[in-house]
Amino acid sequence: MRKKIMSGMRPTGKLHLGHYLGVIDNWVKLQDEYDCYFSVADWHALTTTYDKTENLRQDVLDVVMDWLACGIDPKKATIYVQSLVPETAELHIYLSMITPQNWVERDPTLKDMAKILKTKEGMGTQVNYGLMGYPVLMTADILTFNADFVPVGIDQVAHVELTRDIARRFNNVYNTEYFTEPQPLLNNCSLICGLDGNKMGKSFNNDIKISDTEEVTAKKIMTAITDRSRIRKDDLGHPDECEVAFKYWNIFGTEEEISTVRSECEQGLRGCAACKRQLGEKVLLEKLYINYFPFN
Ligand code: TRP
Ligand code: SF4
Repeated sequence: MRKKIMSGMRPTGKLHLGHYLGVIDNWVKLQDEYDCYFSVADWHALTTTYDKTENLRQDVLDVVMDWLACGIDPKKATIYVQSLVPETAELHIYLSMITPQNWVERDPTLKDMAKILKTKEGMGTQVNYGLMGYPVLMTADILTFNADFVPVGIDQVAHVELTRDIARRFNNVYNTEYFTEPQPLLNNCSLICGLDGNKMGKSFNNDIKISDTEEVTAKKIMTAITDRSRIRKDDLGHPDECEVAFKYWNIFGTEEEISTVRSECEQGLRGCAACKRQLGEKVLLEKLYINYFPFN
């Protein structure tokens, strides 16, 4: 029997290159060898934005469109909406009975989410019961299928560790081997930062969307931060201090290109504008590979 993969994403709007390089690219490769279940986690979205549901329906569709564009193939993998599988909610109740409160309280990802919430305005700034249950709900997602592996971004690994703990505890409490302890799977690609050097994220307005057109992508790349100490284009550059553009070269360029960029930059033979124009073409090639344009 093929091993099983389960993973998901919250429908937070159109996805960006961080989602693609960090997670989806990995899913696309895995779908040939494993039974894959990919969930649009709309209940998880409600844990923080329960008061903003107007766009949820469209956000779910947008996530699925981006997945399809990236090459997730419904003939190979099962794509589904979390809330359409009520058995997962039922399992969540049972799992919540055996999960000690301090296990969820010490979950580092949850702590970060709570911190971010407190900086926002309006209704949804407190930590609700539902948000505390976030990792238990994710555990229910994974254990619904008894998945062997869970391919996620680095920020989700702590949740998968908790899933293992809960599965083990269930098996102990009921003296069974019913649940498999799943393992997280990380993509080996280095994390892509946002155009301003911070973590790439929709709310930071520093992302390149999978669905951005060629023009928009090229324009955005031109705003990527470079070596701040460089003023004129023939000043000697420092690729290692080039905060974003050179990092992108490392992700999208071939080894040969990267070393050419490095030496031309260091010798002052390469202006930042021209450098980023060329980088934009590399990123577009990667995005063409993603294959979005036929959908536009
Ligand atoms: N919590 C995940 C995220 O925010 C999404 C998610 C929900 C998930 N259920 C899952 C990921 C199950 C892996 C497995 O990205
Ligand atoms: Fe960065 Fe390229 Fe400018 Fe060098 S030339 S600082 S690598 S953008």
